[in-house]
Amino acid sequence: MDYRREYISDLFAKAPGTQVSAFGWVKTRRDSKGVTFVQLSDGSCFKDLQVVIDAGALPDDELKRLTTGASVRFGGEIVESPAAGQAVELKATEVEVFGDADPTNYPLQKKGATMEFLREIAHLRGRGNTFGAVWRVRARASYAIHKFFTERGFKNIHTPVITASDCEGAGSMFAVTTLLEQGHPDFPAKLRQTDFKEDFFGKPSYLTVSGQLEAETLALGLTNVYTFGPTFRAENSSTSRHLAEFWMVEPEMAFCSLEGDMNLAEEFLKVVIADIMEHCGPDIEFFNQRIEPELIKTLEHVVSSGFERMTYTEAIKHLEGSGESFEYPVSWGTDLQSEHERWLTEVKVGRPVILTDYPKDIKAFYMRMNDDNKTVRAMDVLAPRIGEIIGGSQREEREEVLERRIVEMGLPIEAYWWYLDLRRFGSVPHAGFGLGFERLLMYVTGMKNIRDVIPYHRTPGNAEF
Ligand code: 4AD
Ligand code: MG
Repeated sequence: MDYRREYISDLFAKAPGTQVSAFGWVKTRRDSKGVTFVQLSDGSCFKDLQVVIDAGALPDDELKRLTTGASVRFGGEIVESPAAGQAVELKATEVEVFGDADPTNYPLQKKGATMEFLREIAHLRGRGNTFGAVWRVRARASYAIHKFFTERGFKNIHTPVITASDCEGAGSMFAVTTLLEQGHPDFPAKLRQTDFKEDFFGKPSYLTVSGQLEAETLALGLTNVYTFGPTFRAENSSTSRHLAEFWMVEPEMAFCSLEGDMNLAEEFLKVVIADIMEHCGPDIEFFNQRIEPELIKTLEHVVSSGFERMTYTEAIKHLEGSGESFEYPVSWGTDLQSEHERWLTEVKVGRPVILTDYPKDIKAFYMRMNDDNKTVRAMDVLAPRIGEIIGGSQREEREEVLERRIVEMGLPIEAYWWYLDLRRFGSVPHAGFGLGFERLLMYVTGMKNIRDVIPYHRTPGNAEF
């Protein structure tokens, strides 16, 4: 057996009469008047291959083993299908069963299983229609992102997963330590000591919340770069939009202002969504039918229309004048809640909105200060159904202003010596953003819970698999 073999997706293009082998897992099996029909899937495409087994064509002993979940190879001939729904099917003359799946306890045979139940068998759910489609879209989206940046001259860089600096200054980081391993009797008291000399890195270290600061260092040399990797946040929020481990796409551009950053974000979302729609047609069709009825219409609209741009201050005015009774009241200076973001995108504008120039107190230290000294050059892209999908900004390139912000926000200035060096030697206006990869996937699939667009979700209380 070689990996260089045809997938089921390739077999649909074969001319009737061609002899082929089809490898995969049995999705369903149906017996009717001596003929057995098997729907076979190998995950290569949405459609299953129909395998027809005429009476007596295969040994009874083997036929018995063809139950949902069993892994097999069928050999036979591609024939025109008389039934509606497929052009060709496979008339089997050979079968090889690799692994049986006992029908009395195979967990994935219940029809209409809930998403919650499927999460408990996350190791098997990819064999079903919904999750097969989600993982294929996830793979294509990842490829489309690398393609988008590579074609535009952005260099893919790898930023560290373990870091000693807090990028967002939000303090929601996971500590990385070996003191536990060393079996210190006074752990975690050891962790509380002010000097971490005995710990692996000799200083407090964490899982990164963002690769941005390091991406900035490479952008100030390579001009346009991007990093696409896992990021971690110890926010104790069990919402349908938050993960403790998620993937972030972060471009960073030297010689670029907030306008350039917004233009990139808009073009990026449009091109990536159009690519997925083009290459995952049957999967998106399925989501449209079964998960989110307006999906295709919304995605086509996003690709073809301009995103609305407004300042945070304007958005607050709209929200205050909306006449809606929000659970969280809004006023200038407060952070927007998901209900506000949804009202702006779904009710007020009806498409994605880019909000800019947020109050400095609700944004990170590195964002460029506006002349009003109250707002910063931040931008968030908000999408209907999802709320914030992208967060970005123009970065503060002026050494004194940046230093002042770090101190004002109570961050340890010594830790940022290298970040400040960028402003001391050849500083330039620069900007970038972070896209939450799983938020994008929720948007393009219509899946309602972020736990269902990542193979194994890490959330408060859950690190199974
Ligand atoms: O807005 P955030 O916090 O921005 C940053 O981290 C910047 N350093 C990015 C940059 O400018 N390079 O996060 C960026 C995006 C959010 O817009 C959201 O889509 C996603 O990351 N995100 C999460 N996704 C899933 N689970 C979480 N807990 C998330 N927190 C943020
Ligand atoms: Mg944000």
